Amino acid sequence: MAVTNESERVPETPTTPVSKKSKMSTAVAIRVQRRMWGGRADTWDRHNDSGMTKVASKAIELADVAPGMDCVDLGCGTGRLTMVLAERGANVVGVDVSAEMIERLEAQPVPEGGGSVRGMVVPVERLELAPASLDLVITNYALHHLLDPDKERVVTAAFTWLRPGGKLVVADMMLGRGTTSRDREIIATKVKAMAKKGIPGYWRIMKNAGRYLFRVQERPITPEAWSRLLTRAGFVDVTTTVVVSEAAVVTGVKPQV
Ligand SMILES: C[S@@+](CC[C@H](N)C(=O)[O-])C[C@H]1O[C@@H](n2cnc3c(N)ncnc32)[C@H](O)[C@@H]1O
Repeated sequence: MAVTNESERVPETPTTPVSKKSKMSTAVAIRVQRRMWGGRADTWDRHNDSGMTKVASKAIELADVAPGMDCVDLGCGTGRLTMVLAERGANVVGVDVSAEMIERLEAQPVPEGGGSVRGMVVPVERLELAPASLDLVITNYALHHLLDPDKERVVTAAFTWLRPGGKLVVADMMLGRGTTSRDREIIATKVKAMAKKGIPGYWRIMKNAGRYLFRVQERPITPEAWSRLLTRAGFVDVTTTVVVSEAAVVTGVKPQV
């Protein structure tokens, strides 16, 4: 059976009104994420996978943050990006589906001379912010958890929240489901690395294959698909930076009027 490429799964027309079925799918996805991440909040600070750290640094670099900027970090976790932005003088709202993550975020002091941090416990699918109220919308390794139509809605909403000249920075695991040679290379490398770990590695291969193939928790799409979503929402100067084989940062700017 042919596997559909993620870049082909992104609908070609802008999102139409949300059906009852789609709202239910979103509600289930949110519940799964909230349960999973609530249980990981205690140890998340220690999760310093080198790929994720590199991607986060690149996201910060591409954000061009300056003191006084108003920012939102979607799926902020315990604040890997939020705290850096605040240290550089930005006023940041960290948004996460998990109350436990936000509790840990808010427990961290912002160094003197920095900006501010405020946490919001809300799924990004249901986040409502004032139009033209932000200079930066940023996210690291969170939006691949969203269903594809919700990814598109969030990008469209981000365009509305940003002031003209504001930037969207999406850093995430970005790959399809094996139809391109890049996808196949990434999957083969991951499987080989896990297999070297013996029985625990084989167990992880099975677990990850299940999540990935059935798109239960991990729903990455390709850099090209992200880039198309941003362009379709109206962003200009859309750039893609592949940081490590399976992850990239896609950025776009809301045009000046
Ligand atoms: C892989 S962690 C990344 C956390 C953080 N951005 C970082 O770089 O360390 C994914 C985060 O996304 C959050 N998340 C997952 N689904 C979400 C949703 N629908 N709305 C808001 N946050 C969500 C999780 O609670 C978790 O904190």
